[in-house]
Amino acid sequence: MSLHKELQELQGLAKKEIVQVTSLDELDKIRILYLGRKGKLTSLMKALSTLPPAERPQAGKIANKVRQDLEQRIIQKKEALQGEALKLILEEGTVDITLPGKLPRRGGKHLISQIIEEIVDIFLYLGYEVAEGPEIELDYYNFEALNIPPDHPARSLMDTFYVLRSGEEKTPRDLGTSEEVLLRTHTSPVQVRVMEKTKPPIYVIAPGKAYRHDVADPTHSPMFHQVEGLVVDKGITFGDLKGTLETFIHEVFGKERKVRLRPHYFPFTEPSAEVDVSCGVCYGEGCRSCGGKGWLEIIGAGLVDPNVLEVVGYDPEEVTGFAFGMGIERIAMLKYDIIDIRTFFENDLRFLKQF
Ligand code: PHE
Repeated sequence: MSLHKELQELQGLAKKEIVQVTSLDELDKIRILYLGRKGKLTSLMKALSTLPPAERPQAGKIANKVRQDLEQRIIQKKEALQGEALKLILEEGTVDITLPGKLPRRGGKHLISQIIEEIVDIFLYLGYEVAEGPEIELDYYNFEALNIPPDHPARSLMDTFYVLRSGEEKTPRDLGTSEEVLLRTHTSPVQVRVMEKTKPPIYVIAPGKAYRHDVADPTHSPMFHQVEGLVVDKGITFGDLKGTLETFIHEVFGKERKVRLRPHYFPFTEPSAEVDVSCGVCYGEGCRSCGGKGWLEIIGAGLVDPNVLEVVGYDPEEVTGFAFGMGIERIAMLKYDIIDIRTFFENDLRFLKQF
């Protein structure tokens, strides 16, 4: 049989097989059988060299054509088989690859977390360290060590959640003993815990949650956040406290705001003050926003009471200190004109997403 004839026969056979094949695997086998390195067509092409030189170009041309033809058919068949496979997946309907993808929604930091970070950053910049204490606290740290003995009227100002130990039914149990367990009503107990553990100089900031037995309304929430500050060092004065708080307030609210200290009373500071910032709406004139006062109260502060220094074993003759505490929700509300504290905890994304 002439080489030409053989080529034609092989082409016919291969064409038939390509048409009949039903899977990609089998199609690949056919490709290898004919076009592979040891395939039928490849061997025939090798035989070209045995032809008389004059016939070689012509035969070579035909062989190449057959090869190209078969390659083309295999590619087309492959595409057809792939298309069918896809159609099958789509018909089964498990995955509709034409649907647009669902992007996961990106979360963001809660406004309260953002403000806490902002405040902490300011004090870190001033050289403070961050301290933390437990939210479930002993009476001793929350009251007693802060110069608030059992019968002190300040206790009734802070409606306390008491924690029952297992087996206990009534609360408050032995109200006023220092082992009583409660939810801290402020972050001030962290002051005592820090001083107990370390020696002066102390420069710490302590953010965290506090709890009071209040009914939720636009300005009250049974859980809220505070940031506590404590400095104890040699020669700390009321002037240091005032300068620190002014720097801080200007950083958070802007340099144009004025700062004012009013005499006040806290059991654990002496002297004590409430710190006001001038109203951002009327700049001190008095408007609806500040209740006509021109000032907004934002921080409680004072020099650490010598009794407190003594409780932790410091010598008030040797070191003095100042402390301050502020409500984060209140600061957030003033900064962003938020009128209801409850919106912080309702988790309505339309509210939270704005910040
Ligand atoms: N702990 C006080 C409160 O919650 C605030 C305060 C802190 C006052 C530190 C003075 C010094 O009201």
